[in-house]
Amino acid sequence: MSIEQRVFSGVQPTGNLHLGNYLGAITRFVALQEDYDCMYCVVDLHAITVWQDPEELRHNTREVTAAFLAAGIDADKQIVFNQSQVSGHAELAWIFNCVARIGWLNRMTQFKEKAGKNRENASVGLYAYPNLMAADILLYRATHVPVGEDQKQHLELARDIAQKFNNDFATSIKAKGHGEAFFPLPEPLITGPATRVMSLRDGTQKMSKSDPSDLSRINLADDADTIAKKIKKAKTDPAPLPESEAELEDRPEARNLVGIYAALAEVSPREVLGEFGGAQFSAFKKALTELTVAKIVPIGDEMRRLLADPDAIDQVLAAGSEKARAIAEPNMAIIKDIVGFIT
Ligand code: AMP
Ligand code: TRP
Repeated sequence: MSIEQRVFSGVQPTGNLHLGNYLGAITRFVALQEDYDCMYCVVDLHAITVWQDPEELRHNTREVTAAFLAAGIDADKQIVFNQSQVSGHAELAWIFNCVARIGWLNRMTQFKEKAGKNRENASVGLYAYPNLMAADILLYRATHVPVGEDQKQHLELARDIAQKFNNDFATSIKAKGHGEAFFPLPEPLITGPATRVMSLRDGTQKMSKSDPSDLSRINLADDADTIAKKIKKAKTDPAPLPESEAELEDRPEARNLVGIYAALAEVSPREVLGEFGGAQFSAFKKALTELTVAKIVPIGDEMRRLLADPDAIDQVLAAGSEKARAIAEPNMAIIKDIVGFIT
């Protein structure tokens, strides 16, 4: 059976959508819709691996959806939906809980970071989360997965799970007429100049939704004054900007700001240094503020406009979920048949 190309990615509705999410993921999602059939999922089942206030979860789910639409994802042509409306994600995740090995999950660095010192007290869901992520992708037999750098290890695990399922059930897959392998090995698409946007307060830490300091990130919902204040306060070093990229090597804060500028202006870091090499940070920060405000504030405005009508957003998700179920349900029926469940 030939496998069609399909893009799948997900964003968690956990609040504080930021410039890293936008440059590392959402702008990529927008670009890929030119060439692929795409599915963009608000992964609420992932969000509850850490406790979420129910009202905030609902709001955050709508906010991520609004960000997708405001950034230019076409919900009529592509599939925009939320995970919990398609039961196949949870069903396939259970099967994958039985395919993936404990040793594989024990290697996941994100779990170690998120669970912190008190690992005994982390939810079982947080531990099994990469299996759910593999299920998200493979439920639709998606072939390409745009993500930021931090998700690379989870994507590798998804490939291992796909391969082990194909091996474990090889005889059944063949007997049922599905060829040599049922699941494709999904390819990560970690591209662009901003696959890892760093904190504005510390160039060695990733920009993150959960950083307690709001000054560490630029949120898509920030207004112009807030953006200006955050860039002004962004950590830098005393030297002027260098002329070459090589000289950014051991200057994490400078490198991050140049990377952000390059990504927003859609030019290379080399071109940015061609323009600003030798300049003081004060001048560069002024230009960066103007650019960031010009690119981000209109998205925040459009998100607010969309969020003023939550019913309309819910309808987008309902329609997208219906389209997603139309792909998920037949695939899930085949998967159950392969595993040996009577349907
Ligand atoms: P999350 O907010 O964890 O659901 O992430 C949603 C998407 O944004 C994923 O593809 C992440 O890899 C990406 N992402 C999150 N933080 C960053 C960052 N600091 N830089 C680049 N991409 C990011
Ligand atoms: N785990 C991803 C993150 O935290 C979100 C996600 C869930 C995802 N399911 C996915 C990304 C499937 C790509 C494909 O960023």
